[in-house]
Amino acid sequence: MTNFDAVFTRSVEKPEEFWAEAAKGVDWYKECDKVLDSSNPPFYRWFSGGKMNTCYNAVDRHVKNGRGEQTAIIYDSPVTDTVAKISYNELLQRVSVFAGALQSQGLKKGDTAIIYMPMIPEAAVAMLACARIGAIHSVVFGGFAANELAVRIDHAQPKLIITASGAVEGKKILSYKPLIDKAIELSTHKPEKCILFQRDIVKAEMKAGFDLDWKELVGISKPVDCVELEATDPLYILYTSGTTGMPKGVLRDNGGHAVALHWSMKAIYNIDAGDVWWSASDVGWVVGHSYIVYAPLIKGATTVFYEGKPVGTPDAGAFWRVISQHGVKSLFTAPTAFRAIKKEDPSGTFFKKYQIPKFECLYLAGERLDPDTYHWATNLLGVPVIDHWWQTETGWAIAANCRGIEQLPIKPGSPTRPCPGYNLKVVDNEGFELPAEREGNIVVKLPLPPGNLVTLWRNDERFVKAYMSTFPGYYETSDGGYVDKDGYVYVMGRVDDVINVAGHRLSTGAMEEIISNHPDVAECAVLGTNDTLKGEVPLGLFVLKAGVNRDPDVIRKELVQMVRDQLGAVACFKEASNVVRLPKTRSGKILRGTMRAIANGKEFRVPSTIDDPVIIDEITTLFHGMGFPKK
Ligand code: COA
Ligand code: AMP
Repeated sequence: MTNFDAVFTRSVEKPEEFWAEAAKGVDWYKECDKVLDSSNPPFYRWFSGGKMNTCYNAVDRHVKNGRGEQTAIIYDSPVTDTVAKISYNELLQRVSVFAGALQSQGLKKGDTAIIYMPMIPEAAVAMLACARIGAIHSVVFGGFAANELAVRIDHAQPKLIITASGAVEGKKILSYKPLIDKAIELSTHKPEKCILFQRDIVKAEMKAGFDLDWKELVGISKPVDCVELEATDPLYILYTSGTTGMPKGVLRDNGGHAVALHWSMKAIYNIDAGDVWWSASDVGWVVGHSYIVYAPLIKGATTVFYEGKPVGTPDAGAFWRVISQHGVKSLFTAPTAFRAIKKEDPSGTFFKKYQIPKFECLYLAGERLDPDTYHWATNLLGVPVIDHWWQTETGWAIAANCRGIEQLPIKPGSPTRPCPGYNLKVVDNEGFELPAEREGNIVVKLPLPPGNLVTLWRNDERFVKAYMSTFPGYYETSDGGYVDKDGYVYVMGRVDDVINVAGHRLSTGAMEEIISNHPDVAECAVLGTNDTLKGEVPLGLFVLKAGVNRDPDVIRKELVQMVRDQLGAVACFKEASNVVRLPKTRSGKILRGTMRAIANGKEFRVPSTIDDPVIIDEITTLFHGMGFPKK
């Protein structure tokens, strides 16, 4: 038995013993009464009775243990030509004072605050300050439009909004304030105050009595200590795309999250305290929560906060420059970032300009890692390239090559084996376990390990329905795939209507809701189609209402603009076509899966319940005319 096998087996056979040991990596005010409370399945609770504070573990304890002078955060912003280093001492000072500022505005344990920030260190300060006083933060990705922010304001009901005056997005400067104002205007719930960090790149107009200037507020605030929290108290809500326009508010607790993330930094990423770690993502996504902010800081590592793109800021050598300049040991990003670099600099000319002697490993996740990109990155970098698979819901990897335990042979196309804690199975639609090599639904036997979602915010019912009902006793990942004879997992893609565009998780259902609001549209369907750069991009099909005789191309442009305005440019919704009708079953269900298969050149079976089989030929001809499947 390999070392990895031994660790994995123990984690699933004796989870309480396993995670109790991992919990030693976290500082507790009081140890838990029960490692795993299974009294109310599927609502499992880890470390109940334990008392701790996530911010204390991410900041204070490192100062106490002599790491105060060490750099906690390296802020590297090619778009503002800034590099700044923040030590743990300074981070403690900033976070404790900002926590005092939040308290002065009445934010207290159990209250919620929405954070809408670009990739500046103040985003981490805001998150940690909330954690310090037991307030629940909900970070919303800065690429989402006002309408999406409004939906989240209404659901999270924040007392405060914490934001900045704007962001630099590639070569564009974006002003956040008009967007925030619009979102508050659209929402039914009204936050009490908005704390805004003014940036030099763009100034926001402040509304007296509502907007508070971050720097002024901090100037008159006093530092406050960490609040003692239950391990099971909520830490944050992170909204993620589901199959409808209403996103799911994934809720994470404090204790289980800190234990799992601390453990994962060594076990999965082989990172120790003092190492320089870089996760090139955004704080608005789960990768940003877990691996830009919480995990590296809880571990006592140095985390790089990068405000830039893989290409264009200023060139395709940006990643190599950062790795070289800061002595990065490992990088974590999405495959799409590497595809973007490969497209601009296929022969690695920029790479040759930099020395990166400390660089040990590249980790990729967020979407399928295509073998081409895997081989290109491996040949270029000459270090292991590790694909790993996870979801917003899980908060950390479900399957990975756990280099800190034992590096297993890499099989391109597979994120390797299930991580310790995940008792993974592949089942058919009736829930029967499938043998090796057979494709089906990937599920995880309950209980999920610590750090996974504990429920959906204010929606236990949806939590049970979305994840726990189809296969009782198992968590439904909504990813399809198989496990090979060596136990390697192969993730083939979502079985629902969630798509992944440039590493951004989006809902085609949300796009359909926007499009169907167009006065001329009778019905529509949005499908994910394969894209060589972004993994997937959406394609819309719309049927016009009877009697509408406006130019369909004008309507198409209006639809593109509507999705951009209401969901955000990140949706990359650019292609749409007018159709006379959509393929449906006799009961009226639109055959999205069949159309997706045709558009992507995959094998498909026409369901026997189809209303009119002829339409499949019509759709196929239309797609061919539009250049699908893409080469
Ligand atoms: N705020 C506002 N707008 C944003 C944004 C943000 N944070 N992020 C992206 N956008 C906008 C872009 O400016 C672009 O607008 P445009 O249509 O006006 O040009 C649009 O959304 C689409 O952006 P994107 O899909 O990111 O395309 P791109 O061409 O700008 O960049 C990549 C392509 C591959 C470089 C980029 O997508 C990337 O770095 N992806 C990695 C994503 C990632 O790290 N995901 C986290 C999971 S690990
Ligand atoms: P998100 O919640 O944004 O992290 O997106 C999660 C989804 O991204 C998963 O359900 C998968 O469909 C996809 N995904 C993430 N990582 C991988 C991976 N390594 N391989 C294949 N798909 C992945």
